[in-house]
Amino acid sequence: MADPDPDRDLPRRYREARHDPDLALIEGFHALKHAVRFDADLVEAMATDPGALGRLARRLAPDVADRVRELARSVDPETFARLSPTPHPTGVIALARRPTVDPGAVLGAAGRAPVVLLDRPTHHGNMGAVIRVAAAAGAAAVLTTGPHDPWHPTALRGSAGLHFALPVARVDDLPATERPIVALDPDGEPLGKGVMPPGAVLVFGSERGGVSAGLLQRAGRRMAIPMRPGVSSLNLATAVAVALYWGPPPAADGCASRRE
Ligand SMILES: C[S@@+](CC[C@H](N)C(=O)[O-])C[C@H]1O[C@@H](n2cnc3c(N)ncnc32)[C@H](O)[C@@H]1O
Repeated sequence: MADPDPDRDLPRRYREARHDPDLALIEGFHALKHAVRFDADLVEAMATDPGALGRLARRLAPDVADRVRELARSVDPETFARLSPTPHPTGVIALARRPTVDPGAVLGAAGRAPVVLLDRPTHHGNMGAVIRVAAAAGAAAVLTTGPHDPWHPTALRGSAGLHFALPVARVDDLPATERPIVALDPDGEPLGKGVMPPGAVLVFGSERGGVSAGLLQRAGRRMAIPMRPGVSSLNLATAVAVALYWGPPPAADGCASRRE
């Protein structure tokens, strides 16, 4: 006999998915749009109104609309509200399998695009904002050290699903690399336009403690984004944005102009 309530198990499944190292939880239309556009391995999408979601997709992102409509399964609003601690106003939530990332291969690959390394970041929202700007600027990857998972649902929300646009992974420490290592540090030499070596690993410190002593020692250079006297530092994601857009021109690795 068919189960009269096939969605009974959904809240538990989504609760478990939040901590599943193999899964990514995608909340909201824009995050789902980027996940589809950058070929995420999507498992399912639950929507309170699949028809309205399809119309939104057709209006804002026609390139992904058919796939979004095909994925979206209807869920009643009460159940939807139990799938996340902060249900997204666009009424959609989805699950994807996380891509496998080989940090050694990422660092060994040739190319001018920098690799962003976040040293023990503590705010998932900051991590998401960094991933978003790194994807936009054409960075080669975002690696993080420390205990915080860069694929946490809050980070995915902060990146608007752009985790799928470039390799994102946690590492215990920065693996050995031939790439130049540059630490971004308010006490470094002033960062000017075009002075960043191409293909560098750009190391950014934690929100509180800055770059750790070990990574400062490994860095060939320490660079500071100039600030007005009296200002002690920029927000982490802001510092990453400035460094990426002041570095080698992203267009060198094939960035294009905007689409929704
Ligand atoms: C909020 S800041 C950390 C502030 C920390 N108290 C310190 O003194 O480094 C987080 C990270 O953003 C980067 N950052 C912030 N402002 C910067 C600046 N003006 N120049 C270079 N890096 C900066 C650094 O990598 C820093 O470790």
